[in-house]
Amino acid sequence: MTMLAANWSLADALAEEEARFTAANPRSRERALAAAAVMPGGNTRTVLHYTPFPLAFARGEGATLTDLDGHTYRDFLGEYSAGLYGHSHPVIVAAAKRAIEGGIVLGGPNMYEAKRAAAIAARFPSVERIRFTNSGTEANLMALVTAIAATGRSRVLGFRGGYHGGVLTLKPGVPTNAPFEFVLARYNDLASVEALLREGADQFACAIVEPVMGGAGAIPATSEFLRGLRDLTTRHGILLIFDEVMTSRHGAGGVQGLLGITPDLTTFGKYLGGGFSFGAFGGRAELMDRYDPYRPDAFAHAGTFNNNVTSMATGYAGLTEVFTPAVAEALYARGERLRGRLNAAAVAAEVPVRATGLGSMIGIHPTDRPIITAEDAPEAKESRALIHLALIARGIYIARRGFMTLSLPQTPEDDDALVAAFADVLRTHARVLRDHAAAHVAA
Ligand SMILES: Cc1ncc(COP(=O)(O)O)c(C=O)c1O
Repeated sequence: MTMLAANWSLADALAEEEARFTAANPRSRERALAAAAVMPGGNTRTVLHYTPFPLAFARGEGATLTDLDGHTYRDFLGEYSAGLYGHSHPVIVAAAKRAIEGGIVLGGPNMYEAKRAAAIAARFPSVERIRFTNSGTEANLMALVTAIAATGRSRVLGFRGGYHGGVLTLKPGVPTNAPFEFVLARYNDLASVEALLREGADQFACAIVEPVMGGAGAIPATSEFLRGLRDLTTRHGILLIFDEVMTSRHGAGGVQGLLGITPDLTTFGKYLGGGFSFGAFGGRAELMDRYDPYRPDAFAHAGTFNNNVTSMATGYAGLTEVFTPAVAEALYARGERLRGRLNAAAVAAEVPVRATGLGSMIGIHPTDRPIITAEDAPEAKESRALIHLALIARGIYIARRGFMTLSLPQTPEDDDALVAAFADVLRTHARVLRDHAAAHVAA
């Protein structure tokens, strides 16, 4: 593709990418317009919206997606990490079929859920007991209310830019958040936590942290930060919640396993449901046993689909037959290599774009400055849109904000194709990306 970018601004380059995208995707555009008649903006999941309109997919197979206009893409979004097994893994498909054929809505305990619980507990040693939910959001809501009820304290320590679910977005001015008493510190900055605790540590029920910030752009916590947080929370009787909804895929036992840190509660979701709706919260027996319904003072936790047979069966089959510890470690190593290759390509192109992340979570950012906290990741909407649409034009599907996760059916050719497409995008748009990053630094 030739871009007449020599004297163009970022806005011009983006307009050209958008025009190309619109011309190439009439069916996706039609779908978006028709859907908008009954769904606000044609959307039911904010994160899937982007301009000029999102691609809609007709099907997925392995690690490939086909859109309504017949283009195929290498799927590097991986359904925001829930798509670890890809779109048609035979073990997952067989487990789902078996489960469905055995009855869909049994309305009682089934033969999958306890095996499923044991399989997770075996991988995540901090999990002595676990309960299931339908989403990561719900898992975090449950972990928070558990901590508040168990401690009798009301405040929750979170981190600016943190994302714990649709009603738990930790940035200012979100009118649809659940009404928890969040107090926010700076990610990767223990001094900011200490400063908040000095003002009244005994009011905090818990601290909740993503070991790698996902929504903020694949920003990993340092081990010193997470260890320090463990020490501080222990010292003040504050429960520590690791939100491993995304990061449980790192190594055999999540980031807690990699670092040997034991949170009081952990929340899970995404791929652990085998690709079906899923969430879970678990941790210390003493806390979780408050939900033991044999107890006269038991806390209640409901959810019609908590033990739905498809998520229970596919999640179990995936974790025990496919995503074994060895496979998990190999995926982590593959992600580390791929991130290194993307950064090498950006350095070679002399374009201030960098990849952050850990293992199989990668974030592309239009800056070459260090990204330690959410505030360091530039919003840079136009640069992000340009990179996104230019990658789509080259057959690579990622999130608008540059987020990617790897999946198991991908091959070395997929990784090579991503690196080649990324390098080509940077070469094609080098000047406008450089200008824009420079303007951002100056501002
Ligand atoms: C770290 C983290 N926590 C919680 C959630 C919410 O999970 P769900 O979308 O299943 O509600 C997400 C989703 O992206 C997440 O990344």
